[in-house]
Amino acid sequence: MVKKREVIDKSGNKHSFSEGMAGVIATTSEICFINGAEGKLIYRGVPIEDLAEKSTFEETSYFLLYGELPTQKELHEFEKRLKKHRAIPATVLDVMKQMPDDANTMQTLRTVVSLMGLYEPKNDEHSVKETSGEVEKLIAVFPTIVAAIQRLREGKEPVAPDNSLSHAANLIYMVTGEKPDDYAARVLDVCLILHAEHGFNASTFTSRVVISTLTDVYSAVTAAIGSLRGPLHGGANEGVMHLLDEIGDLESVEKVIKNKLETKAKIMGFGHRVYKVLDPRAKILSQYSKRLAEITGKQKYYAMSKKIEEIMKREVGDRGIYPNVDFFSASVYHYLGFSLEIYTPIFAVSRISGWGAHIMEQLRENRLFRPTSVYLGDIDRKYMAISDR
Ligand code: ACO
Repeated sequence: MVKKREVIDKSGNKHSFSEGMAGVIATTSEICFINGAEGKLIYRGVPIEDLAEKSTFEETSYFLLYGELPTQKELHEFEKRLKKHRAIPATVLDVMKQMPDDANTMQTLRTVVSLMGLYEPKNDEHSVKETSGEVEKLIAVFPTIVAAIQRLREGKEPVAPDNSLSHAANLIYMVTGEKPDDYAARVLDVCLILHAEHGFNASTFTSRVVISTLTDVYSAVTAAIGSLRGPLHGGANEGVMHLLDEIGDLESVEKVIKNKLETKAKIMGFGHRVYKVLDPRAKILSQYSKRLAEITGKQKYYAMSKKIEEIMKREVGDRGIYPNVDFFSASVYHYLGFSLEIYTPIFAVSRISGWGAHIMEQLRENRLFRPTSVYLGDIDRKYMAISDR
């Protein structure tokens, strides 16, 4: 929502600006188009619905990074490169074993990615080859890091990647130690496609701002992970699960949601800076949540989610507050058997492709981001000696 604010500075000058930079054009991009009024999302010209139905995460990642759908050969080589870089370097894994196993998983992921940057010899080079190489390595290794974080939290040994499996299937395998069935692997694959890219959201913008200083890719991605972690951004999927657990059962949904709305509390997984109708990703995820509820025979979380959606539509739908991508991804991840602590890290496993595409695009025609603010502080204060304060 664009909220214009008018302020008068201490010199009497009037300024108008958009809070949270809503609607502000920061630069140009060819990666993603969102029509918030009509609920449309396209990656490089292709509607998200088509990619969710026909593509894979690997193919979508290639498309985001390089701007063209890969040929069979290009895709095969890309997948081979990703598989080559799936393993966590032994020295990094050793350090991971020393990290507190009760730390926030996104903070651990952020720290591990930052650590990996220390082992990247040419990380201050910004050639297309070096940058895309580093981005591909990060896409490849993210699932292994996230799975290892989860296994170590559970007091278990990390599971080494299995190169016979796809990116999504391998993530489930490394988390659970069991090879998933084709349907579970495909559902996660679709989740990864849907979360891979979303224009100038907070974490992507963060990655572009950071790389615009011509620092290294690892610094940009580390900062982006920190940004994604927040409950107003990627962290909302965990918030949704907390909400569902807080409500407890279907019968309590109406009372709890209405009470929260009356007290002006935010309902996690609802509302979006750009979408004022149903987020197209939520629409797709809602169908997967429904199907998984049927398959597992555990209707509770899907039924509660649908009820919340219905109440929110009735109560605040006219204000453009609808489910966003995080809302149904929470119940989908629950049905896939993931622990709550890695919901947001799984988002990062996907979004690293979008961040990578934006980092590469930013570097192609870089200009340092350096906006300004309206100064509202004092302008003529005298310095007072510390002894007089
Ligand atoms: N529940 C209840 N009310 C809401 C919600 C919500 N989820 N979202 C917005 N509103 C209300 C606000 O209270 C505010 O009301 P007011 O005008 O009476 O004060 C109004 O709608 C505008 O809200 P803002 O927060 O100013 O709008 P903004 O565009 O900044 O918000 C945001 C976008 C941050 C996503 C917001 O909708 C929110 O906090 N949602 C919950 C967290 C969430 O799900 N985040 C994930 C977003 S998707 C993603 O990042 C992957």
